[in-house]
Amino acid sequence: MPMVIAIDGPAASGKGTLARRLAQHYGLPHLDTGLLYRAVAMVLIDMGASLDDERAATHAAAGLVADQLADPRLRERVMGEAASRISGIPAVRGALLAWQQRFAGGAAGAVLDGRDIGTVICPDARVKLFITASPEERARRRHRELDARGEAASLAAILADIQARDARDASRAAAPLRAAADAVVLDTTELDADEAFAAARAVVDRARTQ
Ligand code: C5P
Repeated sequence: MPMVIAIDGPAASGKGTLARRLAQHYGLPHLDTGLLYRAVAMVLIDMGASLDDERAATHAAAGLVADQLADPRLRERVMGEAASRISGIPAVRGALLAWQQRFAGGAAGAVLDGRDIGTVICPDARVKLFITASPEERARRRHRELDARGEAASLAAILADIQARDARDASRAAAPLRAAADAVVLDTTELDADEAFAAARAVVDRARTQ
């Protein structure tokens, strides 16, 4: 049976790094699904459309191609914020659903990380992980990451972003951020990247032998 690993969690929880490392370790393709929402947001920003323009957003989502996911601008803070706004539009989520399920349905399996992978996109995934950390620790991690890329932002501003994003992602009607009932919750506040990776690997290895 193909191995699908679903990884969800709030912004800057470390789920992306973890997903990449798990994919490499198990030889599986990886999709960072946040990039899909960021790419749709970037199309709107670049054409000067409003982030509330549901038609334009749905059109951009339906026409998305893999090449668009490679743009380094997608990682900018402004794209994360904009992505969080357009991701509440049900038609955008609907247009991106098939894309993600196609990726997950490959013969080998896959690792997908996002907000609704275990709940909506891959409800039958063999392994579901929900990665969390305190908002303060996530803000510190995101600050270090942006700093390394030369994108200056104060820790207080990043913490405010994270709290606003958590509230928006968790309270929206369409696929709100929450752990699937059968997900293993991993709190990484006190763990470094290697410790989090070891804990996640233990969960995957257990599932593989079942
Ligand atoms: O994970 P990342 O920060 O790149 O995601 C950007 C935004 O895209 C999130 O705040 C969330 O609103 C949205 N998103 C989503 N569902 C996913 C992945 C991301 O709604 N599966």
